[in-house]
Amino acid sequence: MSIDSSTTLYCLIGNPIDKSLSPLIHNEMFRIFGKNSIYLAFNIEENKLRDVIDGFKAINVKGFNVTIPFKKTIIRYLDGLSPEAEILGAVNTVKNQDGKLIGYNTDGEGFYKTLRNNDIDVKDKNILLLGAGGAAYGIGITLSTKGIKSIYIANRTREKAVNLEKEIKKINPNISTSIGDLSLREINKKDIDIIINATSIGMYPLENLSPIELNGFDKKTIVYDIVYKPRETKLIKEANLRGFKAINGLSMLLEQAILSQKVWFNLDEKFLEKAKKVEGLLLVYVE
Ligand code: ATR
Repeated sequence: MSIDSSTTLYCLIGNPIDKSLSPLIHNEMFRIFGKNSIYLAFNIEENKLRDVIDGFKAINVKGFNVTIPFKKTIIRYLDGLSPEAEILGAVNTVKNQDGKLIGYNTDGEGFYKTLRNNDIDVKDKNILLLGAGGAAYGIGITLSTKGIKSIYIANRTREKAVNLEKEIKKINPNISTSIGDLSLREINKKDIDIIINATSIGMYPLENLSPIELNGFDKKTIVYDIVYKPRETKLIKEANLRGFKAINGLSMLLEQAILSQKVWFNLDEKFLEKAKKVEGLLLVYVE
């Protein structure tokens, strides 16, 4: 890639960002799509967020991603939100549309796309969602628009699970919901079709832990761990040993990045398929 006076800038803002794979993924996608653009990551202090956004507008940054801890706080500096970002109350992608910054959220749809890629239909399924943080919100709320039958939210902090349950009920009161902690004491494990780990348990520095044990679940249970580093978490290892279908977080990471590119460049699905090549590159970075 050669940088010239027409090169457009995209970036990531967050804190910390030093372990982020986004620059690698997006710069590779620009190369694949033949875009004269570069992607940089910026570690931002919260009290500088307004200055950063004003600066982005002033120099006409075309788009950016937002990560922890700014996915919610960024909203007050934006000029508009997509319906998904509005419902989730969180933004991970921003597009500069003729000087106006519009916030999107591709987390939930990125997750859902990976289910479809794996031929998994969530209609009438019973979901066990582990976690009630930002990622769990995106997943839980997206699933509640896709015809699931029930969702059990298991989280260390009960209050957060209660809040997520309320949001899901608002979207679809017909979904049967219940909450508990990660001990899963009150759950009928045999009924669960899909387990989704949206906690950070299994990810460095908790890589020697698993959020739950898999004994008691049916063999047909699908285990989806959104952690992608390490590639094989303890949970995924146990799922493989038991012969359950297991999916790790790498494809979700990729799909939500592809959806960010779709927002920025209005690319169609066929074109976006080419971006899957990036997965090979990522495997080198994710042991
Ligand atoms: P993200 O945006 O990645 O979802 P987050 O909002 O901080 O990050 O959420 C992290 C999730 O992992 C939460 O569900 C958190 O549980 P709490 O709501 O109780 O904080 C869960 N989590 C992280 N570390 C945990 C641990 N050691 N034990 C149990 N749950 C943990």
